[in-house]
Amino acid sequence: MFGKKKRALVVYYTKTGHTLEAAEAVARGLRESRVEVDIKTVDQVDPSDLESYHIIAVGAPTWAARPARPVKRFLKGLDKKALKGKAAAPFTAYAGMRGKATLRRMRRLLRKRKAKKVLKGVAVKAGAPLSLWKGRSPSEEDVARLEELGRKLARL
Ligand SMILES: Cc1cc2nc3c(=O)[nH]c(=O)nc-3n(C[C@H](O)[C@H](O)[C@H](O)COP(=O)(O)O)c2cc1C
Repeated sequence: MFGKKKRALVVYYTKTGHTLEAAEAVARGLRESRVEVDIKTVDQVDPSDLESYHIIAVGAPTWAARPARPVKRFLKGLDKKALKGKAAAPFTAYAGMRGKATLRRMRRLLRKRKAKKVLKGVAVKAGAPLSLWKGRSPSEEDVARLEELGRKLARL
C-alpha cells in the first residue's frame, strides 16, 4: 500500500488564519524530514483518503476550551479504526486560555480512532479573543515548536 516515502496529512480548520499558520509550520518540519505532506482543511478530506497516510497531524482553534466544532465533527465522524497504525498529533491556536485542555481532548479523540502513537502536541498563542479579528501570529519560539512537532512525527 505504501511507497518508499512516508506520507503525512496535516488537516486543520481555521476561521481567522492562525491555525493555518500553525499547520504550515508542522508541515515544514515534516518536509524537512523528507516526508511527503498534504495540507488540507477538514472539509477537503474524504475519510477514505486517510488510508494512504502514515502520519496525521490535526489542527484546531481552541473554542471554549475545546477543539473548534468542525474539527470535533471531523474526528468523531471517522470510522472507529480510521487511524489504526498511524502516528498522530494535535495542535491548536488559542488566544490566551485553555489551549492545553483542547490538546487533551484532541488526543483522546485520536486515541479513540486507534492511532498507534499519539504525541502530546503543541498549543500556540495566537489570534484574538473570540476570533473577532486577525490577531497576532504565533511567536518565533512557537513556530519552532510546531516545526519540531513535525520532525518528531516523522521519526515515529
Ligand atoms: C467561539 C470561540 C470560542 C473561543 N474560545 C477560546 C478559548 O476558550 N480560549 C482561547 O484562548 N481562545 C478562544 N477563542 C479564540 C481563538 O482560539 C483564537 O483566536 C485562535 O487563534 C483562532 O484560530 P484561527 O485563526 O485558526 O481561527 C475562541 C474563538 C471563538 C470563535
